[in-house]
Amino acid sequence: MKKKRKKKRRLRVDRVLLVLFILVLFIFLLKFIPYVFYNQKIYKKIDSSKNNIVEIDKKYNKLKLYNKTINLIKKKNITLIIKDKKYKITLQASEIKKNMKININTYNKRINYEGFSKNKSYFIDSSLLKKVKNIEITLPRYLIKNKIVDIYAVVNDKKIETIKKGYKVKNNSISIDLDKKYTKYFITYVKLKDIKVRDITVNKGSKVNLALEYIPKNATIKNYEYIKLGEIFMLNENNEVIAKKTGNGKITIRHTVSNIQKTINVKVTNNKIKKIDGITYVDDILIVNKTYSLPKDYDPGKLNDDALNAFYDMREDASKDDITLWIASGYRSYNTQNDLYNSYVEKDGQKKADTYSARAGYSEHQTGLAMDLNIVDSSFEGTKEAIWIEKNCYKYGFIIRYPKEKEDITGYKYEPWHIRYLGKKLAKKIYDSGLTLEEYLSIDSKYSN
Ligand code: DAL
Ligand code: ZN
Repeated sequence: MKKKRKKKRRLRVDRVLLVLFILVLFIFLLKFIPYVFYNQKIYKKIDSSKNNIVEIDKKYNKLKLYNKTINLIKKKNITLIIKDKKYKITLQASEIKKNMKININTYNKRINYEGFSKNKSYFIDSSLLKKVKNIEITLPRYLIKNKIVDIYAVVNDKKIETIKKGYKVKNNSISIDLDKKYTKYFITYVKLKDIKVRDITVNKGSKVNLALEYIPKNATIKNYEYIKLGEIFMLNENNEVIAKKTGNGKITIRHTVSNIQKTINVKVTNNKIKKIDGITYVDDILIVNKTYSLPKDYDPGKLNDDALNAFYDMREDASKDDITLWIASGYRSYNTQNDLYNSYVEKDGQKKADTYSARAGYSEHQTGLAMDLNIVDSSFEGTKEAIWIEKNCYKYGFIIRYPKEKEDITGYKYEPWHIRYLGKKLAKKIYDSGLTLEEYLSIDSKYSN
């Protein structure tokens, strides 16, 4: 009797253990069941698909494709799209490998789907998307309402690079090809407030950039409508006006998102540009600017006699008005300019130096027709000497070569001290026109590199 009971108890313990074991096994297996069903579903979809694209809804954070599924994907060369409410991952057959696990856990920051930062940009942490080459994201409403966005990428949380400006949003989403070198992408929209335009004159056979100025500078811009009047010019995709026939015309630009509309008057002139021994003459006027340079060996060695005599006349008359004028810098050789320019580059960097100093071969000082008077510094602006020069220098055959607020046209900042000799007749014409020499002759001033 005693023996029997003991046996019974042991049996019960065994049974409990067995049940426990089966339960654990069942739970373990249960984990796989969804994958099995999910794979089966994918397999069926692929098998019955008519085109090469199969879309499936995201069900699990980790997706394991079984070999049977993978083989079919490869065989039928399927592009598999895994969709979520917020994003879409596109996988080409060639990208899908055996035993590949795809992490699609958006909420555990696998795809760092953060939404919005303080400056209302939309972030994607691509470093966590190791196996994904392309991602499609449905954007929040504030970003898609304008139908265009800008895409930027970040390298090591520091350097920001522009990927695409004015990207068109289709079906409320955008698609980005991910590049391993970027750690983060962000998508943003900056509202355009205004476009500044200026009227242009362009010489027949040459081209001039519209030089539109967007406000703010980083505004998101895509579409314009150009309403062109007349057939005297063309507009290329770089916003350059290419003149065909002489005459006057207009370009109206309308920014399609903001409806900002501006009209630009275009005048096509027909000046004769010729080059003699490497020196450019526009309508027989010697021209040196960022577009037209001088040969290295062009070396008059001193200021032009006519220019110097004109200065002496001017200085004499100025002294009668109690104004003292002197030449601070006159003729400068190619090598002198080279040293000067390089010293500025060293001090301020090339970009800044280019706004106030000419590169060697591009300085008007090398012609012997230009001079800097009195104080070569911004403090000269507004002094009685500067005002006198501005008012009177044309009477002696000079023009202020780099006037105020014409940087985009002349290529240089305002220089109240720099005058260029053109002879009395032409200097008066230009003074009366209120134009820069570039505008007067319909030429541009831009380095080619
Ligand atoms: N400062 C003028 C632009 C020159 O360097 O020639
Ligand atoms: Zn100068």
